[in-house]
Amino acid sequence: MPTQTKRSPDTQKPDAKGDKRIKLLDITMKRNHYRQDSLIEILHKAQESFGYLEPDVLEYIARGLKLPLSQVYGVATFYHLFSLKPSGAHSCVVCMGTACYVKGSDRILSALEKELGIHVGETTPDGQISLMSARCLGACGIAPAIVMDGTVIGKQEPQTILARIQEWK
Ligand code: FES
Repeated sequence: MPTQTKRSPDTQKPDAKGDKRIKLLDITMKRNHYRQDSLIEILHKAQESFGYLEPDVLEYIARGLKLPLSQVYGVATFYHLFSLKPSGAHSCVVCMGTACYVKGSDRILSALEKELGIHVGETTPDGQISLMSARCLGACGIAPAIVMDGTVIGKQEPQTILARIQEWK
């Protein structure tokens, strides 16, 4: 990726975001001299500040670094650590790797989608629970494995997971 040093961008700021978070983003871009190869660091800072990478923030960064929006989206969606949607107060990650799949993780995921009324990758409208999937959590010995609020639990059934979810409601 080419490195360029640029002056402050003549950009329109996202609506209703004339707040500290945008200032922080500006400072980070400026500190990095608006270099295009600082994109990942800028995205990190944006996610840290906003909680997730919303479309107008990505556009703001693209204009700031003078990068095509498609390239910014490409990087933001390539790395798992970046989220394009708000994450809920609680998170549930269902492993869909082979070992977990053969032990029924697809049934757990379906039960969760039905119970929560959302699809994988989404957050409940009340912002309480985000549902995600992973390929392999490295815990195949306890398949099917689920991560609930950062804690890996294994050998689960749809009913046991649904019961745990109730505690979050
Ligand atoms: S496949 Fe699920 S933990 Fe490895």
